[in-house]
Amino acid sequence: MCGIVGYIGKNNARITLIEGLKRLEYRGYDSSGISIHNGNEIKTIKSVGKVSNLEEKINPDEFRGNLGLAHTRWATHGKPSIENAHPHNAGDITLVHNGIIENYQEIKKYLIKKGHEFISDTDSEVVAHLIQEENKTKEFEEAVRDALKKIKGAYALAIIHKNYPEKLIVVKNSSPLVIGIGEDEFIIASDASAIISYTNRVLYLDDNELAILSPTNYTVKTISSNKSLYKEEQELDWSDEQAKKEGFDHFMLKEIHDQPHSIQDAIRGRIDMDNGMVLLGGLIPIEERLRSINRIIIVSCGTSYYAGLVGEYMIEEYAGIPTEVEYASEFRYRKPLLDKNTAVVVISQSGETADTLAALKEAKNKGALTIGIVNVVGSSIARQTDAGIYNHAGPEISVASTKAFTSQLSILTLLTVYLGRQRDMSMVMGKRILSELQKLPSLIEKILKEEGSIQKIAKKYADFENFFYLGRKYNFPIACEGALKIKEIAYTHAEGYPAGEMKHGPIALIDKNFPSIVLAPKDSVFEKTLSAIEEIKAREGKVVAITTEKNKDLSVEDTIFVPKTLEILTPILMTIPLQLLAYFVGTERGHDVDKPKNLAKSVTVE
Ligand code: M6R
Repeated sequence: MCGIVGYIGKNNARITLIEGLKRLEYRGYDSSGISIHNGNEIKTIKSVGKVSNLEEKINPDEFRGNLGLAHTRWATHGKPSIENAHPHNAGDITLVHNGIIENYQEIKKYLIKKGHEFISDTDSEVVAHLIQEENKTKEFEEAVRDALKKIKGAYALAIIHKNYPEKLIVVKNSSPLVIGIGEDEFIIASDASAIISYTNRVLYLDDNELAILSPTNYTVKTISSNKSLYKEEQELDWSDEQAKKEGFDHFMLKEIHDQPHSIQDAIRGRIDMDNGMVLLGGLIPIEERLRSINRIIIVSCGTSYYAGLVGEYMIEEYAGIPTEVEYASEFRYRKPLLDKNTAVVVISQSGETADTLAALKEAKNKGALTIGIVNVVGSSIARQTDAGIYNHAGPEISVASTKAFTSQLSILTLLTVYLGRQRDMSMVMGKRILSELQKLPSLIEKILKEEGSIQKIAKKYADFENFFYLGRKYNFPIACEGALKIKEIAYTHAEGYPAGEMKHGPIALIDKNFPSIVLAPKDSVFEKTLSAIEEIKAREGKVVAITTEKNKDLSVEDTIFVPKTLEILTPILMTIPLQLLAYFVGTERGHDVDKPKNLAKSVTVE
């Protein structure tokens, strides 16, 4: 999400830090900042917008020193602003943070009682104050360790102290952090792209580890037991471009592989397992109004529209609220019948899609309650909805949406349980869905390990010009999303269809040159999907089936297995092989998969 850079060594920190920030700009940013320790004090400056805006504000004579931190922010808590930009300061402590602190509100309350004053809305500033509080009675390193023991969540932190001009502490838990080892200097960063032009000798911290860096030395310890660790240094042979993609050939593949983390980030701190409930801070102001909602309309475009269709199945089945899904481009020109008991849920990764924004305005004019599911904090849709839930998926760089989609599905699952528990859903059911949702990141890791066999299947079908993508119930929208993905990336004709509709016409197209990708998990409609498969096979159609592991009731040309989960969650798992299929067919055809022809990442015109 955010980009972190830190420097300690013999050279002027500012130059390395600004260069590092520019290299991290590709991850998306809304503001940036830098702190330099000049030997006596820590000077900080921040700016909204591009790193070049920050650079212009810096007086080089004032910002000179051998220790420093810098940060490009991609907002999660609090809008983009100077106050919310990093580094954050509390007394002698200055830090930069990447990640999400789950229990920051609780800690903030505790610190306010102790007299701390906050200037930002961020979770990160709370960490700076907590370390400052601990530092009242303990020295710097111990204060950091003890503060971290009180924090729940994901973080990579780089921390400096006014009284320690030769010490940089970095810690990692669930957010990436790499230490670049130079000649009498260290550069730390959230990814290797900020480091690679200085050194290819690196050290990766693992979760729950802390490193203490001086200009010439480093020590790595465990956070919990303060035990010193031996860490193997690594040599990276990545180019600048490869470093940005963390060694993957394309951002799309990197983002497909990001999904165990992006789903974890979507649900982090939002599950109250003891009560089978969901905690959504953004919905607190409308909590009571949501109890009287008797109709939901979801509006969105493209991939976000297909997420909405899955949401319709989820909300109707588990929350019992009649739900419809509309293309935003249609909704904006219809005469929608809405009233104050209708909630319009607007889904948009970018938060800037022109059609979705226009549909939102129409819904507001008609007096409906509007709720956003948006990835980009502070975007137009996020600002204009009455309330919302952020995805926290981090910037999605590839034009084709991948991790934002599965993140949207995860948020819709949370919203379903939230609304369901306000109504008839039992605690047992709430717990059941939420505990299975928590298992998804590790199940996705398992599917990603099968990438090689999915690539082989993609190669086999790379020259076909037509595909059907078929699914039923929860997986009908996923069939549509799979078809959209292969259209976008491989420029091949593909149609997403409900499997049960084949016999009503489309089956006329089936022959040996028109393969079908069939989503057939062992769910409540498996037997029905099987019938569609038999009909296709009877017409010499080739079938690639994606089904639940150990399912032996299928005899088709090619099979991809995904782990077992609840029916409501199968769409998230089914999506992963479809993304990989599209990716590998696209690369097999030699396309620039990150920038497919005729497409833009954010469609801000009608
Ligand atoms: O940013 P949004 O979610 O509002 O974007 C909606 C669509 O433009 C987007 O999902 C588009 O379909 C992508 N190219 C899908 O990969």
